[in-house]
Amino acid sequence: MTIVIFGGNGDLAHRKLLPALYNLHVDGLLPPRIAIAGVGRKDTPDAAYREFAKDGITKFSRRPIDEQAWQTFAAMLFFVKASLDGEQVLAPLGARLDIIEHERGLPGDRIYYFALPPALFVPTVKQLDRARFVNRTGDPVARLIVEKPIGRDLDSARAVNDAIAGVFDERQIYRIDHYLGKETVQNILVMRFANSIFEPLFNQKYVDHVQITVAEEEGVGTRAGYYEQAGALRDMVQNHMLQLVALVAMEPPHALDADVIRDEKLEVLESLRPIEGAAIDANVVRAQYAAGFDLGKPVPGYREEQGVDPCSRTETFVALQIFIDNWRWAGVPFFLRTGKRLPKRASEISVHLKEVPPILFNANPAARLDPNVLSVRIQPDEGFSLGISSKLPGPHVRVYPVKMDFHYGSTFGGSSPEAYERLLLDVIAGDPTLFMRRDAVEAAWRWVMPILERWAETTTDSLPAYPAGDWGPVEAGQLVESTGRRWRAL
Ligand code: BG6
Repeated sequence: MTIVIFGGNGDLAHRKLLPALYNLHVDGLLPPRIAIAGVGRKDTPDAAYREFAKDGITKFSRRPIDEQAWQTFAAMLFFVKASLDGEQVLAPLGARLDIIEHERGLPGDRIYYFALPPALFVPTVKQLDRARFVNRTGDPVARLIVEKPIGRDLDSARAVNDAIAGVFDERQIYRIDHYLGKETVQNILVMRFANSIFEPLFNQKYVDHVQITVAEEEGVGTRAGYYEQAGALRDMVQNHMLQLVALVAMEPPHALDADVIRDEKLEVLESLRPIEGAAIDANVVRAQYAAGFDLGKPVPGYREEQGVDPCSRTETFVALQIFIDNWRWAGVPFFLRTGKRLPKRASEISVHLKEVPPILFNANPAARLDPNVLSVRIQPDEGFSLGISSKLPGPHVRVYPVKMDFHYGSTFGGSSPEAYERLLLDVIAGDPTLFMRRDAVEAAWRWVMPILERWAETTTDSLPAYPAGDWGPVEAGQLVESTGRRWRAL
């Protein structure tokens, strides 16, 4: 197999892809014969590319570099210069790949990874077509990996999907949502369908509400160019958060087959109650971080960040109340929130069970028992816990909230594989389960469009702000508190 990384000397390759491939190599999980070719505009000799890879692995790999493993890995790495402007520009790339494959006895099965700015997806796929790199018969294998964002609205997502579909079959396309490669996210289905204790409770009869938080401590960093055009709704909700909703809410699939699972997830996306018109103002809160503190250090507000328009209205925080209009979840609110420059990096899904009846131990209206909460910690401190009520030891009957807690770190030890390791391995194996199908990407865009459109129309209202280091604006608290609930403290 040959992995061809377009954008081979970019940030994603440096921080994520090359370290992930290195770790797969250390674990002996890569196919025995493989070549990895970075492709980019810069003239880069193979030796310099190997240094670039080594630097990325040294800085970002979850495991320290081992000199012996590195030597064998380095021998698999190549770099090919290619530009995208002009006719037949990929012919030299094809010629070099043929030589590399011939020398290594590789059959020409290839994975093309677009680690590129989205504007280059369509031109690159067209060049692959012109260079006749892809056939749809599957012999030799040709697979395409595309990173998010797939478009910035429904129309542009369709245009990207159409252009790709003109060259690759849907079964050859792997759209990455790296959240689906996280161990804890994969564990959601295991937790639900490999235990008999939880699944019977996952419905409107027992669940009061669900909260999903994806909080980041970092600000926009060096990504203003992209983020200014995106904002939190496009960047996090349309993809990662709706995927989490789908996994928590989906029906049991009848098989662990890629399309059976993806069909069930799609059902959830299609059952989301549309939020339209005035309901948007009542159910969706957006905000932007102002100057504040990160771990006691003063940090600038979003509008003062490098590359950000000083009048920017891009949201760095969004909170929503959403409903899934199907039999299982009718009437159960799902509260979602995500933001940059929040007090800490913490992602968690919590399922809040209904209160016990107000009798016996819960008879005192002034001291209601805490309802049971099942929480899945996606990161950091991966694991899950169940909040239950227990008797406080002593002569009186006093009920105290306690936790049953499972931590990946202490139970399994070591570091879990990075999302990209798992995802790359799945593409090599040809398993699309953890990748986004076209219909899901477009269903998610269809659902967020009315919100984006309303926001685009209301350009004069002031945008709520929150100081960096706070849990979002007061409006986010009110969104939940107005229903008699509150955000879980993380
Ligand atoms: C990316 C977003 O998809 O996910 C980033 O574009 C965000 O803005 C990142 O920071 C978060 O990923 P993780 O794995 O660090 O939670």
